[in-house]
Amino acid sequence: MIKTERVTTGIPGLDQLLEGGFPKGRSVLVTGEPGTGKTIFALQFLVEGLRRGEKGIYVAADEGPTDIIEQAASLGWDLEKYIEAKELAILNAGTYLSSSSGAGKERQIDIHKAIGDLAGFVNRLGAKRLVLDPAGPFVLLRDTTTRIQDQTRLLIKLLRTSMQTTNILTSYGVPRTGERTLHGIEEYLVAGAIILEIVWRDGKLGRSMVIEKMRCTDVKPAQHTFDISKVQGFVLDPLP
Ligand SMILES: Nc1ncnc2c1ncn2[C@@H]1O[C@H](COP(=O)(O)OP(=O)(O)OP(=O)(O)O)[C@@H](O)[C@H]1O
Ligand SMILES: [Mg+2]
Repeated sequence: MIKTERVTTGIPGLDQLLEGGFPKGRSVLVTGEPGTGKTIFALQFLVEGLRRGEKGIYVAADEGPTDIIEQAASLGWDLEKYIEAKELAILNAGTYLSSSSGAGKERQIDIHKAIGDLAGFVNRLGAKRLVLDPAGPFVLLRDTTTRIQDQTRLLIKLLRTSMQTTNILTSYGVPRTGERTLHGIEEYLVAGAIILEIVWRDGKLGRSMVIEKMRCTDVKPAQHTFDISKVQGFVLDPLP
């Protein structure tokens, strides 16, 4: 019988909620508004892999590699060490997204080419973990929702078929308004979806995480509180 292999998340407390981690080789979407912790979540997932000898690739769309290195350093993670050892690469999404056809409003990303190029890099490095932060630009299209859905479906499929990595895709979203599907990746197309929010609790603002779905995993709907701290990074608090 097939048993789902697990990839540790690196987030203290999260593996216990996920039967050991994310389903191996699949894509997990992390959605949230700015400042909710998407980038730190994704970096921590990569750093966890690096500590276990699993190579990683971070594809940045909004920030440059230096910003990412600086963000990680603020949490005590020395990414430069891994980059020098060729265990980690921080790539600029623009490199892949320039492979678009057409111009202006008609511009359409050739996703086969973009992911094909990326897969070439991923496979040469032998990476096991991949982050697209945010993934939206890979499915950026001009008009209707249907086309975005098609593009998203294709992106998820290409990631699964052309590389062996377990992937974190981030996307902006406004939770529970139904609006987030218009902001990026549709969560029903990915293997897992995690929503990060800043919420009011007992008269104070706090951080909240909901695991909306995780295929092949006995995960109960619940809102988990978490913290981001210099010492532990992204950590469920209290631990489950
Ligand atoms: N070194 C640090 N120590 C403690 N908390 C930090 C540290 N660095 C960042 N944070 C917290 O994490 C938040 C930013 O998290 P992150 O950059 O992961 O959010 P994001 O969801 O990726 O945002 P965006 O959508 O703008 O990219 C900061 O606003 C701050 O509250
Ligand atoms: Mg970010």
